[in-house]
Amino acid sequence: MAAARPRPLVAGNWKMNGVREGLKEIKAIADGYDVALQNNASLLICLPATLIHGAALYSVGSRLAIGGQDCHAKASGAHTGDVSAEMLADCGARYVIVGHSERRADHGETNETVKAKAEAALRAGLRAIVCVGETRAEREAGKTLAVVRRQVKNSLPAGANPRNTVIAYEPVWAIGTGLTPTPADVAEVHADIRKTLSAALGKDIAGRMRILYGGSVKPDNAKALMGIENVDGALIGGASLKAADFLAIAAAYR
Ligand code: PGA
Repeated sequence: MAAARPRPLVAGNWKMNGVREGLKEIKAIADGYDVALQNNASLLICLPATLIHGAALYSVGSRLAIGGQDCHAKASGAHTGDVSAEMLADCGARYVIVGHSERRADHGETNETVKAKAEAALRAGLRAIVCVGETRAEREAGKTLAVVRRQVKNSLPAGANPRNTVIAYEPVWAIGTGLTPTPADVAEVHADIRKTLSAALGKDIAGRMRILYGGSVKPDNAKALMGIENVDGALIGGASLKAADFLAIAAAYR
């Protein structure tokens, strides 16, 4: 018997955007997260650290989850400017993105760094969203599957299970560009990630772990992307900044 499809997760990533004024969008998303959607998908917005506490307060009474976009591997200490997973949890975060390609590129994060951060997330009781994805040069060189396999294998936290870990496949060249891979390319990479997870964690755990697609997900392409086999939700940058767009994407699960 085929494993039950994991409950989809529709996650927003505001990146370095938003001041407290923007919290009205969080309120609008929380208000728009109605019963039909609640039955079919989990909704999450990952915010700049400065907005997490406020957003958590705005979403009290809603099932909308709030998350962070990065965390330090350590719980506390002399790390000026950094924020720990424990601090995010204390502010009301329930998830944290780790290893986003912008962090891998801007901050030199390696798979080992990402794994340590994902393990910090689990230690703090957060769910880790571990991002992987190839660059344009890697795709053109035919290295996509090899790169993504290595990232998944080496970034996966010890103790990963379907409740505490989510994988997000985000081709770097599709982020913020309006470009998306073909459905066949998305299907190929997602199936391969599932295989890598099976080898690492066993078929049952791998079958229930969510694998999100991210990179230029918009209201007009969400339904097609979300319908691809082994795509268990989306990680959305630009289109998550406006409640109406984010909810229109989530409506793929209505
Ligand atoms: P985008 O970003 O939706 O703006 O392409 C996706 C991401 O970086 O998570």
